[in-house]
Amino acid sequence: MEQLMRNFFLFLSKNKPLTKVARKYGLKFGASRFVAGESITQAVKTIKELNSKNLSVTLDYLGEFVDNEVEANLIADHSILAIEAIGKEKLNSQLSLKLTSMGLDISEEVVINNMRRILKAAKEHDVFVTIDMEDYSRCQKTIDVFKKLRKEFDNVGTVIQAYLYRTVKDIEELNEYKPNLRLVKGAYKEAAEVAFPMKKDVDENFKNIIKMHLLNGNFTAVATHDDEMIEYTKRLVKKHHIKQEQFEFQMLYGIRSERQEELVKEGYAMRVYVPFGTDWYGYFMRRLGERPANVAFVLKGIFKK
Ligand code: FDA
Repeated sequence: MEQLMRNFFLFLSKNKPLTKVARKYGLKFGASRFVAGESITQAVKTIKELNSKNLSVTLDYLGEFVDNEVEANLIADHSILAIEAIGKEKLNSQLSLKLTSMGLDISEEVVINNMRRILKAAKEHDVFVTIDMEDYSRCQKTIDVFKKLRKEFDNVGTVIQAYLYRTVKDIEELNEYKPNLRLVKGAYKEAAEVAFPMKKDVDENFKNIIKMHLLNGNFTAVATHDDEMIEYTKRLVKKHHIKQEQFEFQMLYGIRSERQEELVKEGYAMRVYVPFGTDWYGYFMRRLGERPANVAFVLKGIFKK
């Protein structure tokens, strides 16, 4: 049943007509639990609240699967405005983005030009930028763009997904770039030809790549809400005397907020992924797919109104 619901929401997350309807009717149906508002002003307010609790942030101007250059350039402009706001307000925040929102599906030229503009602005304001990882069909292209940009900029990182069979090889090959990587389980619906179908295998691979990347001496963001993975990381860093500066935990805005604060109190670095903007639909559907309890939460919200 849980798997059926997950597939249903992942199917909805890629539905273009629904994305357009959702965009038109604004932040509805409980999405505001996971999205910090539609404007940069609302996002800045949220970041300040999180920073006041010693939680650092990575800010994401929502957008994905863009198929025209004008829109891709506009999302890049918005991301630059977000970087400038982070700099001006002296916020403890990085930036996250998806390459399909920068024109990955249009051409290499569009995506690289937009990324260069963003990384240049980010460098000026001392902001680190993480390239999110999207579905499997864009994985190799995303890694190629990352490698190209990494040769020019030191303020860029990317994400590696534990559910893919190719992941261990990617960690090995990326090591020469000494990359700052966010490690996650993976959020898209993928075929058994490319990804582990069983959760236990994903979890095992997740632990494996956390260990590999940390012991390679690279900065590692362990992005998960799963206590088993968090406790594993804590034991690992203790055993290998890995310094606090070499890793952090990351969680999504609106998910396990109390746990986020607890980890900070225990002395760990915790970064919260804060999405904002009007294009919240696909992101929201993926969060519903991750946890049926979230659907109940949203339904309660609808019927209360
Ligand atoms: P898992 O899904 O196994 O959940 C473990 C426990 O965490 C659950 O039992 C529950 O208690 C809690 N939990 C998990 N999800 C919850 C939810 N939605 N609501 C409430 N509780 C929940 N993916 C990707 O493919 N590309 C990317 O670039 C990113 N980026 C990214 C950034 C950050 C900061 C995070 C935290 C996650 C991502 N992800 C991602 C998403 C990731 O791949 C994955 O889908 C989710 O984090 C859920 O997996 P968990 O590791 O949390 O474990």
